[in-house]
Amino acid sequence: MAFNLLKGKKGIIFGALDEKSIAWKAALKAYEEGASIVLTNAPIALRMGTIHELSEKTGNAPVIGADATSLEDLENLYKSAVENFGGGIDFILHSIGMSPNVRKGRSYGDLNYEWMIKALDVSAISFHKLMQVAEKMDIMNEWGSIVGLSYIAAQRTFPDYSDMAQAKAMLESIARSYGYRFGKSKHVRVNTISQSPTVTTAGSGVGGFDTFLDYSEKMSPLGNATAEECANYIIALFSDLTRKVTMQNLMHDGGFSSSGMTEELIQDLKKK
Ligand SMILES: NC(=O)c1ccc[n+]([C@@H]2O[C@H](COP(=O)([O-])OP(=O)(O)OC[C@H]3O[C@@H](n4cnc5c(N)ncnc54)[C@H](O)[C@@H]3O)[C@@H](O)[C@H]2O)c1
Repeated sequence: MAFNLLKGKKGIIFGALDEKSIAWKAALKAYEEGASIVLTNAPIALRMGTIHELSEKTGNAPVIGADATSLEDLENLYKSAVENFGGGIDFILHSIGMSPNVRKGRSYGDLNYEWMIKALDVSAISFHKLMQVAEKMDIMNEWGSIVGLSYIAAQRTFPDYSDMAQAKAMLESIARSYGYRFGKSKHVRVNTISQSPTVTTAGSGVGGFDTFLDYSEKMSPLGNATAEECANYIIALFSDLTRKVTMQNLMHDGGFSSSGMTEELIQDLKKK
């Protein structure tokens, strides 16, 4: 059911690779709620993924390639988006994550540091870059909203999440620092959503993911939040109903982060 929450708003969605992507679901919902959107992803992802199918489902949304770590790509993307909309931007979703160390199975005691820097650049510094370029080009409308996606490994250690934990900690910190700046200058709010483990290409790349998904489900009184539920939360943050929420890392995890133990897990452990 749609509520027209984003009627007349214009936004850019980074990171829809395929239909499992959180950004994919967010793009569908944003369109359903009345927004006009531009879709973007890294050029290689545009070739490998199915983003053009998403474009068809979202009113033929323009698809513009941009490596989120490249300032030049971001400038070109924003220039095209503003031309396409005939005006400024109301919301941006940063739904981007990648760690070569995780992808290639390097252990945390044997990190390749070039790869670690790459992980930080792609997964966290790109969040700063997309805001800095947006601010310099003055493309954000007053009371706009910018959202990044995080994970609880920023606060607590999870085996196999490796250097992505540092990337997420930095992402959340950038939301606070840039949220202050953008709030002062343009009333733009900046938040991160800390999402439950979710079956997507990025999520499933983390070792032991299936076991962890099961643990997390049992550890959350409401169960894991799905990608679609995450998209709903993203839309709420883009809407005018959350105008004074900023500089926050918002837990969207079915209660996982506040649970110490649950009956389901006790039952499971008793069986062993
Ligand atoms: N899936 C989970 O369990 C989970 C949990 C919490 C948070 N998150 C976060 O949600 C976000 C979206 O991930 P997802 O789970 O939908 O997986 P996904 O693999 O569908 O999305 C990751 C996206 O990042 C894009 N990307 C990678 N490098 C890029 C670059 N240089 N420039 C532009 N885009 C680039 C990929 O092309 C892809 O579209 C990520 O930040 C991820 O860390 C995921």
